Amino acid sequence: MSAKVVVVGSLNMDLVARAQRLPRAGETLPGDSFFTVPGGKGANQAVAVARLGGSVAMIGNVGDDAYGQQLRQALFVEGVDCRAVDTCPGVSSGVALITVDAASQNCIVIIPGGNGLLTPQSVQRFDALLQAAEVIICQLEVPTETVAWTLARGRELGKQVILNPAPATGPLPADWFANVDYLAPNESEAEALSGIAVTDLGSARRAGERLRQLGAGKVIITLGAQGALLVTAHGHRHFPAPQVQPLDTTAAGDTFIGGFAAGLVRGMEEGEAIAFGQRAAALSVTRAGAQPSIPYLAELTP
Ligand code: RIB
Repeated sequence: MSAKVVVVGSLNMDLVARAQRLPRAGETLPGDSFFTVPGGKGANQAVAVARLGGSVAMIGNVGDDAYGQQLRQALFVEGVDCRAVDTCPGVSSGVALITVDAASQNCIVIIPGGNGLLTPQSVQRFDALLQAAEVIICQLEVPTETVAWTLARGRELGKQVILNPAPATGPLPADWFANVDYLAPNESEAEALSGIAVTDLGSARRAGERLRQLGAGKVIITLGAQGALLVTAHGHRHFPAPQVQPLDTTAAGDTFIGGFAAGLVRGMEEGEAIAFGQRAAALSVTRAGAQPSIPYLAELTP
């Protein structure tokens, strides 16, 4: 069976330290716990789609090390089609060094490893997957030219293209926007892309409108506990977030994106799919780690 969702993106092994607070520059801090779990924005989103009822394939790279085998296996056991996850000889797998504080805030350093070797040509080898998909999802943890190629190919094939511009450090190339149906940044990414500081719903709306002026079809800005804002040609709509006690926000955005995409391919209308993604993300922040925190469909069904 062909996958309805294809994720083109990163796989990382997350090395997670929990501490009461995040260290300052130059400081050594005693922590509370340490664990190693599969992560990476692309792989997290693929796992979220699979656990939430969508068929999904992943296009990406791992290194030829033990982490690479574990990252591939983590996708396989969830039913993600990982035939297009290549192993790069002589290269390490992507790694993310994550610190989470007592207030559930995190900071992350990423070493790309094999993710950095995902070229447009390597995605093109799996063009049949893109052709068979309904939805294509990209993030920014693989090379820029690969994201650009995939967005353009998705548009050419008439697919629904979702770009989660994470991590974002500055404006996107101008020619990307027209190839994106749903641009889905968080507050800081929306600010980096639009130049408008996002501090509340009003500024989120202005940032969303700016991103639409740049050419994005629709914009969904995720606002943490403030919910999400959808900005379209017809106006804007706020989706309040389910209120939960957060433990660890790592992969909350990925869970939202995967849940939204799963909702779309399961036939939900747009607003329903956003609310579905939000419910999944809310549950994920009550649990530790990236992929272990992503809920299964049965947990969301009342
Ligand atoms: O979005 C969360 C993810 O960001 C983590 O799993 C980590 O690997 C980084 O890519």
